[in-house]
Amino acid sequence: MRDLVVDVTGVSWVNGEEGKLYYRGVSIDKIVKNSSFEEAAYLLLAGQLPNRHQLDTFSWKLRQMMTHVPEKVLRIIQELPKSTPPMLALQSALACLACVYPNHLFSDESLMERAMRVIAQTPTILAAAYRHQLGLPPVVQLEPNLSFAESFLMQTLGFKPTAEHTTLFEKTLIVQMDHGFNPSTFTARTVASTLADIYSAASAAVGALSGPLHGGASELVREMVLDARAQENIEKYVEKILSENGRIMGMGHRVYKAPDPRAIILEELLEESTSPDDTTTEYYLLKQIAKISRRFFEERKKPVYVNVDFWSGAVYNKIGLLPNLYPGVFAAARMVGWMAHIIELRQDNRLYRPRMQYIGDVDLPYTPLEKRR
Ligand code: CMC
Repeated sequence: MRDLVVDVTGVSWVNGEEGKLYYRGVSIDKIVKNSSFEEAAYLLLAGQLPNRHQLDTFSWKLRQMMTHVPEKVLRIIQELPKSTPPMLALQSALACLACVYPNHLFSDESLMERAMRVIAQTPTILAAAYRHQLGLPPVVQLEPNLSFAESFLMQTLGFKPTAEHTTLFEKTLIVQMDHGFNPSTFTARTVASTLADIYSAASAAVGALSGPLHGGASELVREMVLDARAQENIEKYVEKILSENGRIMGMGHRVYKAPDPRAIILEELLEESTSPDDTTTEYYLLKQIAKISRRFFEERKKPVYVNVDFWSGAVYNKIGLLPNLYPGVFAAARMVGWMAHIIELRQDNRLYRPRMQYIGDVDLPYTPLEKRR
């Protein structure tokens, strides 16, 4: 299904022809340069940038809510098999939260507050699931006055991140917050449009994001990096994949016919934080893969460029996060977008019920069971 317009939105706009992305009309470059995670999240959720008071209140509430994951749900995470990827644990935990907060939809909290709660609980759940996989206990005590990005990393790594790592992480979260009508946002809006509770919508959206063609690509980019490192000749390795109609993970996009602006931002961040002459870095290797692939696509006049997932794993790796968390981090960022879309939808809710063109037979005879071959 391509290029079909099924609704209108004022949350974000992907201008695929020119390679531009806007959150509530503000270009992603300006937001990444100037905003914190909290400011960007407020912009998407509330529709405008916050003033100082609004930002302080929003940030304080979000931080308080981070530690509000019910004990029952944390215990369920501990019961999951150790092999459960954090992304799947998140999907399950969000569904469990729908059980813990019955009639969430009709509670006294405003939709904005409920949306904030889901956004705030997500890192705590992911961190608990990630640490459970590693056989580590959850980090229950958070230092006061940490930002959302710092708290996220602290809960995951078990120690306070450096300022450099926090900045890298925060900017990467911001570029992944929203992206038009992508498959997981479509899923979130579809579920929410039935007036199901927002945890059910969030859980379904995580499922949609988890696939390798969507948010699961970054983990596979990491596998490609490890594979490429073991090769003697990178050029031959990349050309072999492409000439055999294979996919380079982290490349291509349904909407962009020009370079993905999110990828440009992440590449710049990596460039600033990596020594350009160090040929052993993941960044150096990725740059080589990107260059060889681009040449291949240019020769065939195909508008296939690296996307956000091509670089995001290299950022996470720099910070010390393991690949099984990469899709989960994407989900934590995109949770803001999903929630912004649900808030927007609920202002004038209409059930999503598109139609399919039927291409099957009509009025076939009914063969009794004993006569079927
Ligand atoms: N590697 C090799 N060739 C590619 C790639 C790729 N990653 N992406 C597109 N192409 C080629 C493809 O072979 C096709 O060639 P042809 O027209 O000769 O058959 C042409 O480009 C168009 O491809 P498509 O599959 O029709 O494009 P699409 O819009 O259906 O696919 C995509 C978009 C993201 C599914 C695809 O580019 C892909 O599989 N990429 C790898 C997975 C990936 O990186 N996903 C993350 C997307 S960005 C994160 C997000 O926002 O979700």
